[in-house]
Amino acid sequence: MSRIFSGVQPTGDLHLGNYLGALRNWVALQHDYECIYCIVDMHAITMWQEPESLVPSTREVTAGLIASGLDPKNNVIFNQSAVPAHAELAWIFNCVARLGWLNRMTQFKDKAGKNRENASVGLYAYPNLMAADILLYKATHVPVGEDQKQHLELCRDIAQKFNSDYGVELFPLTEPLIFGEATRVMSLRDGSKKMSKSDPSENSRINMTDGPDEIARKIKKAKSDPDLLPGEAKGLEGRPEAANLMGIYAALSDKTLGEVCSEFEGQQFSAFKDALTEVAVAVLGPIGDEMARLVADPGYLDGALKDGAERAKAIAEPILAEVYDTVGFLRP
Ligand code: TYM
Repeated sequence: MSRIFSGVQPTGDLHLGNYLGALRNWVALQHDYECIYCIVDMHAITMWQEPESLVPSTREVTAGLIASGLDPKNNVIFNQSAVPAHAELAWIFNCVARLGWLNRMTQFKDKAGKNRENASVGLYAYPNLMAADILLYKATHVPVGEDQKQHLELCRDIAQKFNSDYGVELFPLTEPLIFGEATRVMSLRDGSKKMSKSDPSENSRINMTDGPDEIARKIKKAKSDPDLLPGEAKGLEGRPEAANLMGIYAALSDKTLGEVCSEFEGQQFSAFKDALTEVAVAVLGPIGDEMARLVADPGYLDGALKDGAERAKAIAEPILAEVYDTVGFLRP
C-alpha cells in the first residue's frame, strides 16, 4: 500500500518555493494516495519562536495548505505537537541514528552557522524527528523540494538500521518524490541561494500572501543578466537567475522549461518579467485571497486540525505500539 507523508514548518510566510517545491505537488497527489500532511511546530522550535506568533503561524500555514487545494476531509492535515507519538518515536530514533550520520547533515551546518556550540540540541537531532514523522505512519513516499533529499536518505538509513538491529521488517524504505520544473526555487536577489523564509531580504522571495502590486514589484526588482533569453534550456547554463525565473514561469504555467525557452527565445528580460508577473498573479492571487478568508475563521481551521490529529493518532498509535513491543518496552 502507498501512503504519503510530508511536512512544512509554521515559521514565517509560505513562499513560492514552498508552493512549487511542495504544496502544489501535494495537491496533485491527493487523489492517488492516502495523504498525511503535517504542520511541524515541534520542528519550528529548534530555532527560537515567539510563543505568541506560533499559534497564528500554525493557522496561517494550515490555511495555505487548504487554500492551495488540499481538502482536509480527504487528507489528514494536523499539527505535529497534537500527536505525541512523533516525539516518542523520535526518542527511539535518537538511539538508532549515529552521531556520524547527523554530523554530515548540511542543513544543520547552514542553520547553526558559525556559532555551532550555541545551536539547540533539537536543531542537531531534527532529522531524527523528521524520520519519526514519516515512519510513524510507515509512509512509502514523501513529496518534498530538493533541499530535503539528504534528510530523506537519513530516514532510510534509520529504517534500515532499526529493521536490521531488531531483525524485523517493520519500517519501509521510504522514497522521496521530487518532481516538477521548480524543485529548487532560488532567491530572486541571488540565483545561487535558495528562496527561503529566513532570508532577511523580503525582495528575495514571493510570499503566497503577496498581492498583485507586491508580486509585480518583486519580479521587476529580481536580479537578471544583460543577455537575451535563450531558445533552449541548455542556453541557461551559467545563467542561474535566468534559469530560476524561467523555471518558475514553467512551473506556474504547467509547461516544460524547453517550451518556455522556445516561447521567449531572443526576448528581453523586461517582456519576460511582465509575462511572469501575469502568471504569478493569476496563480497566487486566488490562493492568497482564500488564505485571508480562512485565517479570519480560526474556529474552522482549529476544527480541521483537531479532526486531522484524531485521524493521525488512529494510524500512528498502533504503529508506535508495534515499535515499543519490538524494542522490548513493557506496556502494562
Ligand atoms: P520547510 O518548512 O523548510 O519547507 C516545506 C517544503 O517546501 C520545500 N521548499 C522548497 N522547494 C523548492 N524550492 C525552495 N526554495 C523551497 N523551500 C522550501 C521543502 O523542500 C519542503 O518540502 N524539514 C522540513 C519539514 C518536515 C518534513 C517532515 C518534510 C518535517 N518533517 C517529514 C517531509 C517529511 C522543512 O523544514 O520544510
